[in-house]
Amino acid sequence: MKKLIVALMLVAFAASTALAADVVTYAKDCKKGAVTFNHAMHGEKVVGSCANAACHGDAAPAKIAVDKKTAHKDLCKTCHKGNAGPTKCGGCHIK
Ligand code: HEC
Ligand code: HEC
Repeated sequence: MKKLIVALMLVAFAASTALAADVVTYAKDCKKGAVTFNHAMHGEKVVGSCANAACHGDAAPAKIAVDKKTAHKDLCKTCHKGNAGPTKCGGCHIK
């Protein structure tokens, strides 16, 4: 029984760290360069709270699916435009 509890705790720990990774790298093979998204910085400095309508909405924070459209328009760039984040290719894609 003890072993089972320890195993469950390890699984829960691994899951929580995977969901809240501090830094996520996108577009690793992009010719323009990879995009390093600093999740911790965005959460603490930029938004102040996970449950921000711009990011996770009112639902329990979960991993957000990012594709080219989300990145270049809907989510990332839209917020950057209004909040002095990078909007030029080289501001996000670093070679
Ligand atoms: C707000 C940050 C941001 C800006 C500004 C931005 N990009 Fe991106 N771009 C991303 C992210 C994040 C992805 C990865 C999306 C994904 O994982 O599907 C991406 C993906 C791409 C891809 C596809 C790469 C692949 O491997 O599929 C290309 C090409 C690209 N961007 C080119 C550009 C160009 C050209 C510009 C300037 C006109 C630009 N990006 C501006 C964040 C940005
Ligand atoms: C709720 C608003 C908001 C959203 C959504 C957002 N960003 Fe940002 N981001 C910012 C702001 C504001 C800054 C500038 C922070 C600063 O310089 O202090 C920034 C900075 C950045 C930077 C450069 C600074 C650094 O060192 O990390 C990158 C790269 C970046 N964002 C990528 C992304 C990507 C990729 C996404 C989408 C997955 C995204 N951001 C979504 C507000 C946002």
